Amino acid sequence: MNPLRKPILAANWKMHKTVAEAVAFAEALQEQTGPLTDREAVIAPPFTSLDSLCRALKLEGYSASAQNCHWEEKGAFTGEISTVMIKDLGCRYVIVGHSERRHIFGETDEMIRKKAASVFTHGMVPIICVGELLVERDANSTFDVVGAQLDKALEGLVSDLVGRVVLAYEPVWAIGTGRTATPAQAQEVHAFIRARLEALFNKEVANRVRILYGGSVKPDNVDALMAEADLDGMLVGGASLEVASFKRIVQFES
Ligand code: 13P
Repeated sequence: MNPLRKPILAANWKMHKTVAEAVAFAEALQEQTGPLTDREAVIAPPFTSLDSLCRALKLEGYSASAQNCHWEEKGAFTGEISTVMIKDLGCRYVIVGHSERRHIFGETDEMIRKKAASVFTHGMVPIICVGELLVERDANSTFDVVGAQLDKALEGLVSDLVGRVVLAYEPVWAIGTGRTATPAQAQEVHAFIRARLEALFNKEVANRVRILYGGSVKPDNVDALMAEADLDGMLVGGASLEVASFKRIVQFES
């Protein structure tokens, strides 16, 4: 954590919760946690709940995110949702390039680059996910994989915009497995990402960008992870589905 960068605690609900469940969660979380000034809580529900959630998140410091988008404004793309439509709901963030999109649905770096650019074009902020598979870590190619994903996702963006990007390092072997990266393992990759941003853009951009960690974040490991210098927040799957557990993550202490 670094005082220059306001931490983001983000819930990625994936394919969970009905509209009623999403709204009840948002109300309970805000009631129990209160307004936030030194950190941000972000909730990314399925598209079906996004409109209701945008309306239900009213307190300072709370905002909504989409989990995905299409880069075209409109057209013959059955089943897709455009950034224009997401912006129209009052949504602030869009997750792009989540490993489940990359590995289950075959999204390429080029698609992710177009999505991130489209999110910016429509006045929102992309949360761009990067991360290596277990075989890639075992082959010592973590930095090559993450570096290449980063370079391609940010290609063509001007520094002004890149400074506003949120990145999420999510090692695929840690997602939903209960096998969290140790704080030191996460810090090593986050520091690499920040150095890469400085090389690609400049030091000011590198210092501004918030880099979240994701992969089996829980109430009992959040404090140690957030204590690392280059971890600026968390992107949480399973442990974000219950109010009590996500609340504890939002209220991390480092
Ligand atoms: P888990 O917290 O369930 O491991 O999921 C992490 C994730 O994919 C968040 O985007």
